[in-house]
Amino acid sequence: VKLTYIEHDGTTHDVEAAPGLTVMEAAVKNNVPGIDADCGGACACATCHVYVDEAFRAKTGEPSPMEESMLDFASERQENSRLSCQITVEEALDGLSVRLPEFQG
Ligand code: FES
Repeated sequence: VKLTYIEHDGTTHDVEAAPGLTVMEAAVKNNVPGIDADCGGACACATCHVYVDEAFRAKTGEPSPMEESMLDFASERQENSRLSCQITVEEALDGLSVRLPEFQG
């Protein structure tokens, strides 16, 4: 599954991710900068904040209530904000791109 991470300054990182990983794990494994993931994917830190490309918003679904409350701690939250540790990579997400915020947390 191909994923693209776009840093705040426009630098893009294309990554090949196995289904079952989270979008956060795929970034960390591939040394994509800008996703801190301090809590290691437990939905407890909001430092894996990303903005999901509009075209994929329906496919990635809505944040769970727990994610929803963590997102309130993310800086510069927007309509398409998600915590990348709460998005699981699957075939349907092939081609997904996410933008990274300037700062995490
Ligand atoms: Fe901590 Fe996603 S890694 S909330």
